[in-house]
Amino acid sequence: MSSAQDPAGGGGEQQIERPSLVSLHGVAMSEVFIENWAAVESYQADPRDLLVVTYPKAGTTWVQEIVDAILHEGDHAKCGRAPIHKRIPYLEFSFRGLLPSGIDSLAEMTSPKVIKTHLPFQLVPKSFLEQNCKIIYCARNAKDNLVSYFHFDQMNKIQPEPGSWEEYFQRFLQGNVTYGLWHDHVKGWWQVKDEHPILYIFYEDIKEDPRREIVKIMKFLGKELPDAVLDGIVQQTSFESMKENPMTNYSTVSDRYFDRSISLFMRKGTVGDWKNHFTVAQDEVFEEDYRRKMGDTDLRFRTELRGSQ
Ligand code: A3P
Repeated sequence: MSSAQDPAGGGGEQQIERPSLVSLHGVAMSEVFIENWAAVESYQADPRDLLVVTYPKAGTTWVQEIVDAILHEGDHAKCGRAPIHKRIPYLEFSFRGLLPSGIDSLAEMTSPKVIKTHLPFQLVPKSFLEQNCKIIYCARNAKDNLVSYFHFDQMNKIQPEPGSWEEYFQRFLQGNVTYGLWHDHVKGWWQVKDEHPILYIFYEDIKEDPRREIVKIMKFLGKELPDAVLDGIVQQTSFESMKENPMTNYSTVSDRYFDRSISLFMRKGTVGDWKNHFTVAQDEVFEEDYRRKMGDTDLRFRTELRGSQ
């Protein structure tokens, strides 16, 4: 158990106790995210609602901003109406009643809503599938995803204790982090992508050619936008722009929850950063484990981009 002091001060020393990890139908989950589970499970989606799904740290915020920009036809002012987590609520989010839950935020919105979730396929509320809602799933290669998640869990005081890099590395391979095994998550959604209106995209593809992927998302959403608007969206959703934008960089979240002396939310935004973290021995263990867990799928990832960054 660890704690964070409230740098805002004022009311003296306030501490946040990190939650523990529990099992939700066999998937590791932060205990605070199951506070509202009955309401999440029975959530009634509208057929016009759009679900953005990812394993944590796979580029959720990036896709959220792209979607919001497309739906608002590249209008900067409209996209700047609120921080991204308020524009697109996080379905299962809950934190001891101290922060607005996803369910509470969604109750204040009217459909069509765009909703974020990190739930694996088997735990997504059935109404999204029954209502045939469109779903965008974005996946990121496991190595960069792991590195990004490690940094995030260190700085985000409302996530379970991450431990050291080596400990975290082992826990990720065991599925002992919030939302469980990365491998099951990406495969679970991949298996059902042709049975539902699911657009399955990759972080590395957006990085390689953002315009191409933005057009893909635009078409999936049934929108047509002029070239100049698309150019603006590419610019608005670049890492550099989003890093500077308080409506996308999570700078509106209190230091009490996000310790920015450890890491920024918009940290690096690259493909291949895992090479700066994995030891040779860890890479061997990872690859061996990966072959076992991913041997039964045709899902392929890129862990580097040619001539990249
Ligand atoms: P890094 O920690 O590797 O920098 P999520 O939104 O799912 O929490 O994912 C966060 C990760 O996506 C972070 O990765 C963040 O920097 C990256 N990211 C966010 N916006 C991005 C953008 N516009 N371009 C590239 N990466 C982006």
